[in-house]
Amino acid sequence: MILGLETSCDETAAALVSADGGVLANVVSSQADLHARYGGVVPEVASRRHLELVTPVIREALGLAGAGLEDIELVGVTAGPGLIGALLVGVAAAKAIAWARRLPLAAVDHLHGHVASLYLEPDPLEPPFLCLLASGGHTLLLDVRDRGGGSRVLGTTIDDAAGEAFDKGARLLGLGYPGGAELDRLAREGDPHAYDFPVARVPGLDFSFSGVKTALLYAVRDLAPDELERSRADLAASYQRAIVRALVGRTYEAAAESGAATVAVVGGVAANSELRAALPEAVVAPLELCTDNAAMIASAARFVEPVPYPGYLALDAYASTA
Ligand code: KG4
Ligand code: ZN
Repeated sequence: MILGLETSCDETAAALVSADGGVLANVVSSQADLHARYGGVVPEVASRRHLELVTPVIREALGLAGAGLEDIELVGVTAGPGLIGALLVGVAAAKAIAWARRLPLAAVDHLHGHVASLYLEPDPLEPPFLCLLASGGHTLLLDVRDRGGGSRVLGTTIDDAAGEAFDKGARLLGLGYPGGAELDRLAREGDPHAYDFPVARVPGLDFSFSGVKTALLYAVRDLAPDELERSRADLAASYQRAIVRALVGRTYEAAAESGAATVAVVGGVAANSELRAALPEAVVAPLELCTDNAAMIASAARFVEPVPYPGYLALDAYASTA
């Protein structure tokens, strides 16, 4: 079985996945509460918390799978992109376990991991497909041709990521951090046509979400406190509709352009109820595999060339791909 580790942001996660993609254990310990009072992830706080949590989380995953370290055949870990100090905790843990057992180690790209959430049992997806990857850090339209992770980027955001737009909008509406899921809930009580929030049309298949965020800011600023309180659900619904329409519109355009017969959606924003409803034919991973987790990292590890023992001791994490 494969041990997957993910510590790129504020989730400490460990999972055990079988060679054929069966999820044997998937443990995610979120630090969201720890960072909520700062309104965002504090990198150094995240690194320290990962250090405390990584061993208990691995132990819990092994316990759930009824397995021991001796059952692990491959270790897969997120090497980037993400917060460098946070990544290093997972990479160091992965090296230690792999080295102690003389196992190979697979360095996994976090974005490949999100896509590989689609390759897990019980309904593994077979490329080619068009993939919308929408998370807190990325918004990408990918032409996925094989499971190895080398997909062609058809479109991306020129400013904020979709999840970031949700989080910043949630903040403007006085919701907690990260606010995407809460905004999603509030939007269900509101009228999505109450406000007209424009989403900029940028050339090609790219996205831009900074304008819609500013539009929400102005709308909030122009309301008296009691009006704002009455309008929060309408603002949330209208704002969410604008983001979802932009994501869905571009996804259909990309599907037409690339000739893709299958469309899939991954990443934290794939948990959004309106987005899921707006793309009924799309393949969407189960909710717990949309937001950051280690099962997707173990899944991707199956399709990466692993570094044999002990060559990975010099392996480094990377903060960004560019
Ligand atoms: O993939 P993910 O867990 O972490 C990153 O790699 O960034 O994505 C987290 C993002 C956050 O911005 C969060 O607010 C957003 O996904 N998110 C949602 C929902 N659930 C999570 N956004 C909209 N609606 C949701 N239901
Ligand atoms: Zn992610």
